[in-house]
Amino acid sequence: MASFKELVFSGVQPTGNLHLGNYLGAITKFVALQESHDCIYCVVDLHAITVPQDPKALTANIREVTAAFIACGIDPKKHIIFNQSQVPQHAELAWIFNCTARLGWLNRMTQFKEKAGKDRENASVGLYAYPALMAADILVYRATHVPVGEDQKQHLELSRDIAQKFNNDFVDSIAYHGFGDAFFPLPEPLIQGPATRVMSLRDGTKKMSKSDPSDNSRINLTDDADTVAQKIRRAKTDPEPLPSEEAGLEDRPEADNLVGIFAALSDIDKESVLRDFGGGQFSTFKAALVDLSVSKLGPIGSEMKRLQSDPASIDAILADGSARAEKLARRTMDSVKDILGFIRS
Ligand code: TYM
Repeated sequence: MASFKELVFSGVQPTGNLHLGNYLGAITKFVALQESHDCIYCVVDLHAITVPQDPKALTANIREVTAAFIACGIDPKKHIIFNQSQVPQHAELAWIFNCTARLGWLNRMTQFKEKAGKDRENASVGLYAYPALMAADILVYRATHVPVGEDQKQHLELSRDIAQKFNNDFVDSIAYHGFGDAFFPLPEPLIQGPATRVMSLRDGTKKMSKSDPSDNSRINLTDDADTVAQKIRRAKTDPEPLPSEEAGLEDRPEADNLVGIFAALSDIDKESVLRDFGGGQFSTFKAALVDLSVSKLGPIGSEMKRLQSDPASIDAILADGSARAEKLARRTMDSVKDILGFIRS
């Protein structure tokens, strides 16, 4: 297969309540990859409207995700931060991918089944076609690496299937236009570390989620120190002391989750956490987890607030990022149109 320049792309929905799962599963990875790769990070507002959104809240949430990216350490000058709706090529390529993806593929998507629930007839067409837009987000930059949490794995596999089918369907035209044997790379998911699936603090078998009605189930990036402390102290646990080895976390989802969070926040593995806390009571461990969480998240929360108090500066960063992203996206779309046989001026 043709070789592609390594490029990182990922996105976060501006749907409010950015939480520790988003931070550990995705945003910390975004930050780390800046050292080794060119990165494009997108606030995916077109994805957000697949379910109803209040316009004023959506505007605020787009700014909040942007502020979180910057407060966590993403550099919008060296890399690109932008909001999806300002780069029309995402929606344009998504339409083309709607014609590449098969109904059978989309029918298998578990996230659609979960989000549509029992009232599937009443779900938006956009919610169903969501994974084709996600493939377009990545492939409109011909990005090769995509840091995400575990819950996005199936969508990434679909993106690879779409890229592969497009490459096969148009193999002759792709070669004719000078792109060798493949136009799109097969994007690789980067799902690594001890916190690829952070669980609810109230139920270790459920994912930590923005939409959980209980705010105590998650730690929000904007929670103050007292709230973080309270949520961790109240987090569900079991009566046993912590095990000394990782195998002892099996069948103890709440313990496993808290140890995973501790490991990810301190950038060590679970085994090392258990070396320090194994055999001890949860109360001791929780006190250390409160200190660690507050010291890591406190500065991020206050920097987010500071940035959000100046919306014009955030909007300027998004405008600059969008203009730079659009240049890249337009180049890909021009080639896609040539490959498909469209006429363009
Ligand atoms: P979203 O907005 O739901 O979540 C943003 C990122 O956070 C990760 N994440 C988690 N990681 C660990 N534990 C959790 N409990 C947890 N909850 C969320 C998600 O896996 C994700 O990486 N469809 C995507 C957004 C998207 C996208 C893209 C991502 C749109 N286009 C293209 C990558 C590439 C989503 O809804 O993420």
